Amino acid sequence: MLSYNINVLTSDAHLIFDKNTKEKINQNKDIIIGNHVWIGMNAMILKGVEIKDNSIIGAYSLVTKKFCNENIIVAGNPAKIIKENIEWQR
Ligand SMILES: CC(C)(COP(=O)(O)OP(=O)(O)OC[C@H]1O[C@@H](n2cnc3c(N)ncnc32)[C@H](O)[C@@H]1OP(=O)(O)O)[C@@H](O)C(=O)NCCC(=O)NCCS
Repeated sequence: MLSYNINVLTSDAHLIFDKNTKEKINQNKDIIIGNHVWIGMNAMILKGVEIKDNSIIGAYSLVTKKFCNENIIVAGNPAKIIKENIEWQR
């Protein structure tokens, strides 16, 4: 369930390299969103994020990493787990 003004970015759009090795350090990464996930308004979801089934992303959250548990609420900047063992309905 998607609110408005949600951004989902699998790339940073510009490259970052290690100064010494010249290796690219900001690799593009897939984003995996489970079933029955509610994404709040103005959420920003960056490369590599994974959010599991029955979870919620709070309004204005900046989500930057994988969350391994189902049925959680993540929120804030950077998004952290604020509640666990939740269920939600439309
Ligand atoms: C994520 C959300 C559903 C959680 O609601 P909730 O379970 O009632 O959470 P609470 O209000 O009890 O907040 C719990 C804690 O998380 C914090 N928190 C809640 N939502 C937050 C958010 N979006 N960003 C940062 N922190 C948040 C609260 O400040 C509180 O912190 P504390 O424990 O330090 O006091 C709700 O806050 C939210 O973001 N709602 C907007 C959803 C939306 O966009 N709907 C679509 C409309 S079109």
